[in-house]
Amino acid sequence: MSLETSAAELSELLQNKTPVLILDIRAKERYMQGHITGSANAVCQNMQQKQVIMSKIPPNMKIILVDDDGTSSRENAMMMARFGFDVHFLKDGIKSWNKELVKSTQDTSIDGDSLWESLKDKKLFLLDVREPDEFAEHRIPGAVNIPLSQIFSSDAQQSIPRDKKVVTVCSHGNRSMVATFALAQNGIEASSLVGGMAMWNQVLIATTLKEGDVTIIQVEKIGKGCLSHIIGSNGQGVVIDPTHPASRYVKFAQKEGLEISRVIDTHQHADHVSAARDLARMTGAKLYLSKLEGYKIDSEKIVDGDTIPFGTKQLRVIHTPGHTAGSMSFVLDERFVFSGDTLFVEGIGRPDLRDMVEEFAANLYHTLHNKLLALPEDAKIFPTHHGDGIRPTQNGVYYTTVKAAKTLPLLDLSEADFVAKVASITTPRPMNYSVIIKINRGTIPISPMQIPDLEMGPNRCSIRM
Ligand SMILES: [Fe+2]
Repeated sequence: MSLETSAAELSELLQNKTPVLILDIRAKERYMQGHITGSANAVCQNMQQKQVIMSKIPPNMKIILVDDDGTSSRENAMMMARFGFDVHFLKDGIKSWNKELVKSTQDTSIDGDSLWESLKDKKLFLLDVREPDEFAEHRIPGAVNIPLSQIFSSDAQQSIPRDKKVVTVCSHGNRSMVATFALAQNGIEASSLVGGMAMWNQVLIATTLKEGDVTIIQVEKIGKGCLSHIIGSNGQGVVIDPTHPASRYVKFAQKEGLEISRVIDTHQHADHVSAARDLARMTGAKLYLSKLEGYKIDSEKIVDGDTIPFGTKQLRVIHTPGHTAGSMSFVLDERFVFSGDTLFVEGIGRPDLRDMVEEFAANLYHTLHNKLLALPEDAKIFPTHHGDGIRPTQNGVYYTTVKAAKTLPLLDLSEADFVAKVASITTPRPMNYSVIIKINRGTIPISPMQIPDLEMGPNRCSIRM
């Protein structure tokens, strides 16, 4: 059977509104300059992605491949036919098409940083095409879920607004690309989020707070709500709890005229891979880690009462066990506190990730009441996470104060009630938490390529009532 389709035959199919998936396999720029109406751009980075994409296309669909001249579309059609697809290619390619070509009004793909910028614009419709259980587990706020299995039905597409820019989202950017094929059939343009939720979780943004002679740059891993801080004094910066990609911190610091001279982790994180080692290596900065967490990483080990100098300031180290046994918090000028996962804007650190919940909960009680809440009432507390739905406190920066923290539920309980209550709360653990702990301890190696997949899913280091 010939796989060729002539321009006249394709034109007739379109006129008769015969369901057909027209996949334009030319480079994105060429497609965007002008393509056949109803066609979608299908460009795969490699064979593996091609196979994944094919596995997501409904097998009963009639497919027509389009390229410049009918050469590579023929080869691809022959390959897809071997997989059992009803596939054809446009004979002589786009140059044989003598009808009007449509120009794209939006990019066919979008990266995480650009999506973050675009989210500020309300004219965006985020369409998450993963399965409902994946969507329920973790999603970009405001996204609407229509699973890929339903998106090929025009009924399902009725709820998609025509006056908004559509961005499709999945876990790795494959299903979201296939969704753009289905939408193109109905004349809906869409941009697929490159790398999906895995890459969304790697987007870092920075917000700066200046108070007197102190600069605090709060860096947020927006997909997970992880917070980290660059504290600047007199041109020098200390970074607390950096996340990947580490190179972003160098840029954020440079923008405020800071050179990173110290890097610290408050504790062994369970929900994200620490970038502290890489950042210290990259910048030549000194790395500080708790002496009480069993780290197998070359670093200066810190204990309660130590000081870490930078610029004209110094950080005072306080041992704040509870979330982990060796968690440290850092106090600057008795006005700013960096509390890791011990105390958050909306709750307290969970003490159950190391399997000794009652002992850790009792430690947490003492840490909170006798150490953190004993600091001056107006001291600002900067945590390492914020929970879902929590709004920034001031100008985009998340923090709480000692005074506000004293009003948190759970903190009015006696020690015995606190331990009993905290031990009874069961929250799912972060995905991959035990392997992430080992990586962060320095006992198993990690390649940067593995980080996005390891960090899939929400952060789950806090408990709140
Ligand atoms: Fe943590």
